[in-house]
Amino acid sequence: MTQGIRKAVFPVAGMGTRFLPATKANPKEMLPIVDKPLIQYAVEEAVAAGVTELIFVTSSSKRAIEDHFDRNFELEYELEQRGKQTLLDIVHDILPSGVNCVYIRQPEALGLGHAVLCAKSVVGDDPFAVILADDLIDGGRHGCLSQMTELFTRQQCSLLGVEEVDAQETDKYGIVRLEKKSQRLGRVEQIIEKPRIDEAPSNLAVVGRYILTPRIFALLENTDKGTGGEIQLTDAIADLLEEEVVMAYQFDGQRYDCGSKLGYLKATVEYALKHPQLKGEFLQYLRGFCLPAE
Ligand code: G1P
Repeated sequence: MTQGIRKAVFPVAGMGTRFLPATKANPKEMLPIVDKPLIQYAVEEAVAAGVTELIFVTSSSKRAIEDHFDRNFELEYELEQRGKQTLLDIVHDILPSGVNCVYIRQPEALGLGHAVLCAKSVVGDDPFAVILADDLIDGGRHGCLSQMTELFTRQQCSLLGVEEVDAQETDKYGIVRLEKKSQRLGRVEQIIEKPRIDEAPSNLAVVGRYILTPRIFALLENTDKGTGGEIQLTDAIADLLEEEVVMAYQFDGQRYDCGSKLGYLKATVEYALKHPQLKGEFLQYLRGFCLPAE
């Protein structure tokens, strides 16, 4: 019987030091792209792909994420009293009914692999997705995770979302070597966390979308600290390759590295240019700004 993906893990415990001081008291995943926080884009992508269990791996400074996906009766009451139906709908529609949130604390910042391992008891024996919210992916009508879950129903194996990056940037990513690639899909032969340019087996980088079989948990339990002194998901995936087929999928869509200021700014500009209420005026402003009158 083929299995679908119903559970997604959102590792959101990271400190977001690249955005200090903005992230001193505010989670980096709550930074908005125009009017929606990054984590909401990630959740919407998961829900559109059929995910119904959202598992957030959080830390003490991330309460705003829980509040964001919870009801806010006072706000709803005020909006209702003032007849602000559109705003009320926006607040109500953050999560559709039938979707549940589970929050797990990662007690120490021991790395992405450790964060995923914290979700073990909630994920159980099912294949699941991992979404890193600071990799914002605009897949158009067909989100990146939807593309991957569809592939999963056919392949029934772990899948990594990948894209080509500049050769100078391999030391920021998990980098894969593929057996051979047919169109957008290929079997992973090797994966290395953040290799230097001269050690990188290719320039195909894993970005923040994974579908993993539950076997990864047993491997994570035995994964030692790796790059940066952290327990790396990449290292456990390298072990998984020895036992199971893992495929890399070059998704269709535009990724923004919102973990970096430049990527965040690019996303902000491009999402503003697509925003139904803003695009006209913002384009006009940008034209005037970039091409000042003689
Ligand atoms: C993490 C992973 C890395 C992956 C990247 C995608 O790194 O460890 O393998 O390529 O996310 O964004 P981080 O960005 O947390 O340093």
